[in-house]
Amino acid sequence: MNNFEKNIIIAIDGFSSCGKSTLAKEIAQKINYTYIDSGAMYRAITLLAIRHNLIDGINVNEEELNKILDSVQIQFKLNKETHQQDIFINDENVSEDIRDIEVSDQVSIISKLKFVRQKLVELQRKLSKNKRIVMDGRDIGTVVFPDAELKIFMTASEDIRAKRRYDELVEKGIEVNLQDIRKNIKKRDFLDQNREESPLRKADDAIELNNSDLSKEEQLIWIENVLDEKFKK
Ligand code: DC
Repeated sequence: MNNFEKNIIIAIDGFSSCGKSTLAKEIAQKINYTYIDSGAMYRAITLLAIRHNLIDGINVNEEELNKILDSVQIQFKLNKETHQQDIFINDENVSEDIRDIEVSDQVSIISKLKFVRQKLVELQRKLSKNKRIVMDGRDIGTVVFPDAELKIFMTASEDIRAKRRYDELVEKGIEVNLQDIRKNIKKRDFLDQNREESPLRKADDAIELNNSDLSKEEQLIWIENVLDEKFKK
């Protein structure tokens, strides 16, 4: 697999806490592609809105946010130590700050704004002009790259996703309640699927991966097999 020579775009969409980024990162590393986390971009703009006091949990000062977006640069840079892509607002590395609970709580409000989506879709397309990328998100196979050569749509049961997210946070030392996480996942699923702009849905030509009962290793083997079958010479 390390010698996967084809230059393609791999689009991975799906529900929150489905393990999209884990699989996307692993397959990108395996085939020497670049991984791009589109959710991190929506989170970065949410962080900006919070820092400028432009969002209060319900309303957004769209005019001001739009002005600020014209003057900031959102960029990914490879971190040579972690081998991950860090996200920057201008020259500040915000990779950790965008994972704050406050950002997670408010990101759905920002990600439904049309001007935000337009700006980020444009940036996502620019970042991918040479292909050889794996991008995960909610609208990658439907809106950002409708012609992506491989589209995966990931799902897993709500219980499994809540438990995975719970374990992840507990491991980071964050005190959480499983019921709260379940509620948050349900709410985010609803908002992602029902917003007017680019709602989450499976592209007609996407391959579905329900990973409820699959280990990380099994998922990687699954996608390697798909690549082999679909793109073998
Ligand atoms: O993947 P994530 O949970 O870090 O994404 C954060 C939020 O951004 C999520 O609530 C949905 C939104 N998002 C989106 O609307 N479109 C994308 N392509 C990626 C994420």
